[in-house]
Amino acid sequence: LSGRVSLVVNGEKHAATVDNRTSLLDLLREQLGLTGTKKGCDAGACGACTVLVDGLRVNACLTLAVRLAGAEVTTIEGLADDGQLHPLQQAFIDEDAFQCGYCTPGQIMSGIGCIREGHTGSPEEIREWMSGNICRCGCYVQVVRAVEQSAR
Ligand code: FES
Repeated sequence: LSGRVSLVVNGEKHAATVDNRTSLLDLLREQLGLTGTKKGCDAGACGACTVLVDGLRVNACLTLAVRLAGAEVTTIEGLADDGQLHPLQQAFIDEDAFQCGYCTPGQIMSGIGCIREGHTGSPEEIREWMSGNICRCGCYVQVVRAVEQSAR
């Protein structure tokens, strides 16, 4: 079975025909060509695919595209404004919060969610609310610092 879905991604309207089992992650990467959102585990365990749907963070690999009619999706590609990096993107650079960079789009989208949700009271709180985002390079200390810097 397939269905038609219209949604807004990074401020742009899109319509696509998707199989009912297609994840938002596959819609973004394979149909819309937005490959900034990464596929790590494809099972909800690593956070590499984190995006915002109507302002809330979700694992795009666990979200069925067909259920997103009318939703507003924000991905890493939608953050920079007129060539100017989002403050959290800049904070990741300033704090050296990545090595290989594979988890970084998910970390940044999750960090934005963490800031918006008000979970930045202490490094421990940030660590807790960012704990769904795994970094194989072990940049956790710097990630927490970058979120702290951006939340100030
Ligand atoms: Fe979605 Fe790992 S790819 S949580």
